[in-house]
Amino acid sequence: MRLTVVGAGYVGLVSACCLAEMGNQVCLLEHNPARLQALQQGRVPIYEPGLEALLQQVLNRQLQVTGNVSLALNEPELILVAVGTPSQADGNVDLSQLWQLAEAVQEHLRHPTVLVLKSTVAVGTGDALQAWFEQRAIPVQVVNNPEFLKEGAALEDFRRPQRILIGAEDAAAAAIVERLYVPFTRNQARVLHMRRREAEFSKYAANAFLASRISFMNELAELAEHVQVDIEAVRQGIGSDQRIGRHFIYAGCGYGGSCFPKDLRALSHLGRSQGLPLPLLSAIEQRNERQKQRLIDKLEALLGSHWYGKRVALWGLAFKPDTDDIREAPALVLLRALLARGATVQAHDPAAMPAVAERFPEAVASGQLQLCNEPYAALENAHALCLLTEWKLFREPDWLRVMQLLAEPRVLDGRNQYDPGQLATMGFVYLGIGRGGLASERRNRAAA
Ligand code: UDX
Repeated sequence: MRLTVVGAGYVGLVSACCLAEMGNQVCLLEHNPARLQALQQGRVPIYEPGLEALLQQVLNRQLQVTGNVSLALNEPELILVAVGTPSQADGNVDLSQLWQLAEAVQEHLRHPTVLVLKSTVAVGTGDALQAWFEQRAIPVQVVNNPEFLKEGAALEDFRRPQRILIGAEDAAAAAIVERLYVPFTRNQARVLHMRRREAEFSKYAANAFLASRISFMNELAELAEHVQVDIEAVRQGIGSDQRIGRHFIYAGCGYGGSCFPKDLRALSHLGRSQGLPLPLLSAIEQRNERQKQRLIDKLEALLGSHWYGKRVALWGLAFKPDTDDIREAPALVLLRALLARGATVQAHDPAAMPAVAERFPEAVASGQLQLCNEPYAALENAHALCLLTEWKLFREPDWLRVMQLLAEPRVLDGRNQYDPGQLATMGFVYLGIGRGGLASERRNRAAA
């Protein structure tokens, strides 16, 4: 198929490369000059395992990267839209980039086409766009086809999707989109057809549901701390029930990233716009905010409330492993508090340090925030170690070395990665999330 992908962000770039890999002729349209130049040289401006190699494999063969709108929109059989749809202050989705694209399609399109919305858009957007094209007699069929890929596992998720949702009112347009996915759906993925607004709604529902599981576990984790229960035992206990399942029930520092927070806000906004209170959704968001703040409370339990002159080591800054994305990352909440209270921060993250340096230039320049090139360098003379992102690199540290390097043997395990018994035996003071069954956890809570 000959298709154009609009927007070389996460979703657009991964989709374009994976579709090109399957033999489609793909034109990727990107308007940001720096991003465009990097991509044309075979460099990927985001961190995603395997993506750069795949880009280099398909670039200038099945994939052309361009900034030329008229070339890209002239006569594609299909246009995949992956433009940004960020949150506005009231939680509503900002669709301005999508409407700009509609104007460009009006100006440049010369043949009938199918416009596939992969960007997460407000419920009803596809219908509004369809009406807009029809009023102008532009031969475009709008289809919603939400993307479920996870950062860090994006290629795998695209190549082996668990399901493909095709939201369309027009059967012929739906069939064209289905044909695009044939190479990816042969084995196990199911193609589900529904109306446009149902596909739009499903994307929000999926993310809100996953976020609710996380907030649920985080809430129970706090309770567990009060009743001498280790939430990790509970996680295993409930996860073995197939109706519950093992995924997305890990208590931690709260969810971050570009999707969950934004999509929760958008769904709540939709409720408000309908005059409908949705207290469950609000509670998911509130718990997540609280969970991020709890890192501060926990560090106070370890260090006392005066942090001026203290040195704190952070392992992990990205919102999750295998990405350099720091959007809404829990680590930033603790980092800001540490900097505001005069602590010195020594941090290491395998991918996200450039993004953090860009976000906190003054702290880096003054030396209050030191970005260290390897994990152990961050520990030197620190009064506590905080694990905030569960990169594999941090999974099995050399604890004797950690003990030697730290000024005080204190560990805040924001992802419940470590064995509290082992650490306690070695003489560490350990705090995790919801690990109320542990003596050190009880002692520290009592002291706080
Ligand atoms: C998510 C959805 O999974 C994906 O389908 C959608 O397309 C985009 O949003 P992503 O944001 O890349 O993907 O990350 P994901 O792996 O889902 O994790 C989201 C957040 O939840 C992370 O901050 C992670 O640390 C947190 N999380 C996840 C938990 O705290 N506990 C868990 O059990 C699982």
